[in-house]
Amino acid sequence: MDSPISPVSPEDKPFLRAVMGAPVAHHPFWLMRQAGRYLPEYRAIRAKARDFVQLCLTPDLATEITLQPIRRFGMDAAILFSDILLVPFSLGQELAFQEGEGPKLEPIRDRSGLTRLSEALDFERLLPVYETIRLVKQALPPETALIGFAGAPWTLATYMVEGGSSRQFAAIGSWVSRDADGFQVLIDRITTAVTAHLDRQIAAGVEAVQIFDSWAAAALPHDLKRWVYEPTRRIVASLKERWPAVPVIGFPKGIGTATAEYVRTTGVDMISVDTTLPLDFARDTLQPLAAVQGSLDPELLVTGGTAMKAAVERIVDTLGAGRFVFNLGHGVLQTTPPEHVAALAEQLRSLPVSRLG
Ligand code: CP3
Repeated sequence: MDSPISPVSPEDKPFLRAVMGAPVAHHPFWLMRQAGRYLPEYRAIRAKARDFVQLCLTPDLATEITLQPIRRFGMDAAILFSDILLVPFSLGQELAFQEGEGPKLEPIRDRSGLTRLSEALDFERLLPVYETIRLVKQALPPETALIGFAGAPWTLATYMVEGGSSRQFAAIGSWVSRDADGFQVLIDRITTAVTAHLDRQIAAGVEAVQIFDSWAAAALPHDLKRWVYEPTRRIVASLKERWPAVPVIGFPKGIGTATAEYVRTTGVDMISVDTTLPLDFARDTLQPLAAVQGSLDPELLVTGGTAMKAAVERIVDTLGAGRFVFNLGHGVLQTTPPEHVAALAEQLRSLPVSRLG
């Protein structure tokens, strides 16, 4: 089916303009985890769905959830409603989300465990994700960009090896120190799968992609190059070959000033900064290399009021003169009052943009 020709070209979308460093009339914003449990309309759909994986794989529902925060708050970008763990799932690893316990996967602890994984992604399992992208594109306001995403190979490996969320990262640390070359096989397989999944998302219509390396800081500092930068660099290079104009956003959470080397090595177009990274460092060292998004503490969005307002102003004052997209330093917390998100949206739309050229 032919889709109608959009009266707005990509260059007119404030989010994409800000990433490219073009002038914008307001500071564009979106929030990591902007669709989710803090919204009553999400909880209503979630209560009816059998399980979370099926929710992600039901295009009508995933489309509706993607659009919910846009309708309420008018973010400049929507992020596809999906999950990073659909990649391990589509490599054949069993995945279940248990109420209040987070994800559970059948752990792969060593080289012999790799035989339980397929060599390549089973795209059949992921077709509903690409269908969701097509449906969202038809329904989004023309000025709103759509962001696709995947987990970075290292972060996905933490879930695949630990069998779920972890605090200690003992199993992955043990595998890396016993048999780095065997672990490299896992990382390579994930890297190929993530590249293919992002490529398909772009082909289906997403206009930017974010690579979530939420557990980058669980790698030893001298291992960052091998397990964090290098796999991400390969993904970015492959995507750029096919889709040179599609921005790639990196989020290597928690690695501090090593973020500069991450940006230089990987070639991401925009860097998502967490709450611990000093804003001066983001402005002076990162912004000359890439656009910057972040870094409001998600707790401040729970607090709201003047504390949030002052923190937002400080971020915009420090970063707003360069390539900048407003975001949080991590995902929206479940306890966030939706009215605080509405207040944030209003503040961002009313703050002056100092750099118009
Ligand atoms: O709004 C959005 O940002 C889009 C959708 C999205 C989800 N997960 C939906 C989700 C995105 C981009 C993610 C990314 C994701 N998933 C990450 C990276 C970002 C981060 O927060 O660090 C990670 C590590 C995951 C893996 C994951 N998914 C975990 C550990 C959990 C359980 C913990 C939790 O928050 O409950 C999930 C579940 C999940 N993914 C939910 C949502 C809305 C909650 C599930 C529910 O409704 O029960």
